[in-house]
Amino acid sequence: MAHILVVEDDLSLREVLSMFLHKSGHEVVAVHDGDQAFRELDGDDSDFDLVLTDLRLGRRNGLDVLTHVKEVSPQTEVILMTAFSTVETAIDAMRRGAFDYVGKPFKLDEISITVDKALEKRNLRLENIRLRKELSQRYRFDAIVGKTSKMHQVFERIMRVAPTKTSVLITGESGTGKELVARAIHFNSPRKDKPFVVVNCGAIPDQLMESELFGHVKGAFTGAHATRHGLIETAVGGTIFLDEIGELSLTMQVKILRFLQEHQIRMVGGVQEQSVDVRVVAATNKDLAVEVEKGAFREDLYFRLNVIRIHLPPLRERSEDIPYLVHHFIEKYRKALGRDLHGVSPEAMEILMSYRFQGNVRELENVIEHAATFASGGIITPEDLPEHLRADGSDTARHDDVTTVPHDGLDIEARLADIERRILMNALKRTNGVRKDAADLLRISFRSLRYKLAKYGIGDPED
Ligand SMILES: Nc1ncnc2c1ncn2[C@@H]1O[C@H](COP(=O)(O)OP(=O)(O)OP(=O)(O)O)[C@@H](O)[C@H]1O
Ligand SMILES: [Mg+2]
Repeated sequence: MAHILVVEDDLSLREVLSMFLHKSGHEVVAVHDGDQAFRELDGDDSDFDLVLTDLRLGRRNGLDVLTHVKEVSPQTEVILMTAFSTVETAIDAMRRGAFDYVGKPFKLDEISITVDKALEKRNLRLENIRLRKELSQRYRFDAIVGKTSKMHQVFERIMRVAPTKTSVLITGESGTGKELVARAIHFNSPRKDKPFVVVNCGAIPDQLMESELFGHVKGAFTGAHATRHGLIETAVGGTIFLDEIGELSLTMQVKILRFLQEHQIRMVGGVQEQSVDVRVVAATNKDLAVEVEKGAFREDLYFRLNVIRIHLPPLRERSEDIPYLVHHFIEKYRKALGRDLHGVSPEAMEILMSYRFQGNVRELENVIEHAATFASGGIITPEDLPEHLRADGSDTARHDDVTTVPHDGLDIEARLADIERRILMNALKRTNGVRKDAADLLRISFRSLRYKLAKYGIGDPED
């Protein structure tokens, strides 16, 4: 239900419109000229969701009403109605922020569709404002977005370890935000004004790794024409981020372990040890315990790194974060692509929330970038999402989701309770809240259903 102001000098049209909108469940105020419209807009009860105004009204016309609405209440949508619609007025009206205009005469279903669309846009906008507010107030830590308690634990850990010098191991699947966390640790530490140096251990060939990290002296090997400092030295006073540390060769692992223990480096071909103050943050998407078992990762280095570990849960285990992430990326691409974007339709959000993102947050970000490029009318709808997302509503995908056991385990009671709660909600949705029917659907007694609803705190306030 919305609060709508109708401004129309034609008595019969004004009454037809008012009645029609009233029947559709809206609360309507109808006036016959611009002066009255201004009075309503300036009055105490002026929180209109939508204004439907005629263009030709006499002294103050529809464009004046539009301009005034946008001044006093920018969130209110305005639809212009006009029998004299010329292209110029329409363009002018849109430029001044009208949602749309309809040419008279119009059919009631025609205006009804436009009204619904305008209200949907307004709701999305309000939803967006709410999300943005929550996002900036509570659900982010630096650039890291997360509402779920799992992510809050991550934030807490970052805050706790950041001020210290201890090395940290960040684990998690690809695209879960490991590098973001590494940066947050550095930029919330006393080292924040010193360098943050990223080393991708998977991308540097093993023969070069030692000299890359520790540097080399002139003549240390063929091609070493001059002495070169290593990456660790360039990070002095700051942090070195050893990304994909699971890719390091066993030989390099020994050298890193020594560095972690002694805080000393020696250039390739050099004789002198040099003390350096560099904090190490490492990340991997491998399960290092398994690598240790396979003999591919040194146990001593693993223990050394694993003292402080921050694990990033995959996105499929924190789907409540998705609306906030979506909003965060919409903001990002709205600015980057210069597009008028203000939200996601509820249908599209439902698809996003139930999709199993293999590539986690990175994949979600790519999806929003894609959708932002294709969305028209400022709203991302299911059609703007990549094909494979829409195809994946299948039961198996969801079924799989809830039965997967992650490598760090799960709480089976909590998981089962969550499934039960979701089934109850779905059954109630299907029966429009009629509990007797929901009980039948789920083949349990009414009593038993009531008990379960109470257990999960779902349902009637009267109970
Ligand atoms: N919680 C989050 N909030 C906002 N953006 C995020 C979040 N997590 C990840 N991202 C974004 O997703 C992308 C991937 O994140 P990042 O590079 O940190 O992942 P990663 O775990 O290092 O992945 P990989 O293992 O593939 O290197 C980045 O653009 C990052 O900004
Ligand atoms: Mg990474």
